Amino acid sequence: MKIVVTGGLGFIGSHTVVELQNQGFDVVIIDNLCNSSEDVLDGIQRITSKKATFKNLDLRNKADVTSFFQKHTDIKGVIHFAAYKAVGESVTKPLDYYENNLHSLVYLLQHLSNAGNSNFIFSSSCTVYGQADVVPITEDAPVVPAESPYGNTKQVGEEIIKDVCHVHTDLNAIALRYFNPMGAHPSTEIGELPLGVPQNLVPFITQTGVGLREQLSVFGGDYDTPDGTCIRDYIHVQDLAKAHVIALQRLLEKKNIANFEVFNLGTGTGSSVLEVIQSYERVSGNKLNYKIVDRRPGDITMAYADTAKANNILGWKAETSLDDAMKTAWDWECKIRNYKQPVLS
Ligand code: NAD
Ligand code: WQD
Repeated sequence: MKIVVTGGLGFIGSHTVVELQNQGFDVVIIDNLCNSSEDVLDGIQRITSKKATFKNLDLRNKADVTSFFQKHTDIKGVIHFAAYKAVGESVTKPLDYYENNLHSLVYLLQHLSNAGNSNFIFSSSCTVYGQADVVPITEDAPVVPAESPYGNTKQVGEEIIKDVCHVHTDLNAIALRYFNPMGAHPSTEIGELPLGVPQNLVPFITQTGVGLREQLSVFGGDYDTPDGTCIRDYIHVQDLAKAHVIALQRLLEKKNIANFEVFNLGTGTGSSVLEVIQSYERVSGNKLNYKIVDRRPGDITMAYADTAKANNILGWKAETSLDDAMKTAWDWECKIRNYKQPVLS
């Protein structure tokens, strides 16, 4: 069965391609390589012994999107990861973000809504909740005005899908709201490849660990949390990837109750920045050079998922502990930097 994965050479997309191929799906990857490289295809093949079909296509080009689907008429589902994702950059380049993240979505939906009987999965984000009043956060928590154009593209993206599903009742869609994805494939064949200075915590930690960065700045030590640092829900990318396969199966088997559904994907456990650092220190055997500095503007104090809906309805649960996830992130960083790990006793 043929499935299209947009952004399938990126961080979460590539791990999802692996899980799809492991479950016997035929994957066609669409990616324009703006934040990835074609080498990822080889990594996927080394894990699954199967080469995915790759189409270098920019989803902002409507004619290309249309002609792709005219040539591939046997596609049973689309998992849409392709987007820009840097929150800070989105503030300085809002139109780039609206163009890339929303035009791509609209062009895909224009095709799928006319194709009939289509299945669509959308990468959304816990960013839609902002600082929720109640944690753990359920899917019913209010969606608050976005802090950034990036966050806005996820909120508006969900609204667009909902509106289209309302009139095209044979379009079945699921939006998955990820909390904080981290880690790499345990084989170290694929992982996260942030361009430039990482904005996210875990790649900054591992890059500091191998000596690429001098020191981690911990943004704020005076939050209203047990150790004063912010709390997030760090989920292993492989667990996240597996959830996509389960969500896709739900759509293919028509088990969905409504034709637009939303699920949180997190572990259900919050970890503070200092706890994440301690996890790194445990699995690497290295002390991390870090310093507590001022708060980062826009950061929320605490976010972690209520996973009951995903657990009960999808039948999915994150299985990887923070330390095991951190170990994969660390092994991956060491591999790509040729860093020799100390032998732990
Ligand atoms: P990523 O940048 O690693 O992967 C995105 C892929 O999409 C890249 O390979 C890029 O080349 C491709 N792409 C971007 N624009 C494209 C276009 N116009 N045409 C074709 N390909 C294009 O990002 P990721 O971390 O894997 O994130 C995947 C999705 O999950 C994104 O939609 C992101 O917003 C969402 N998300 C990510 C996180 C996170 O922390 N990583 C959290 C929540 C949601
Ligand atoms: C985690 C914690 C920082 C870097 C972002 C996006 C969000 C979603 C997930 C896509 C925070 C602290 C970080 C550093 C630090 N992505 N930190 N020093 O902020 O939860 O969310 O990724 O949808 O939209 O905003 O993740 O990894 O940036 O930060 O102290 O150098 O680590 O303050 O508490 P965040 P993050």
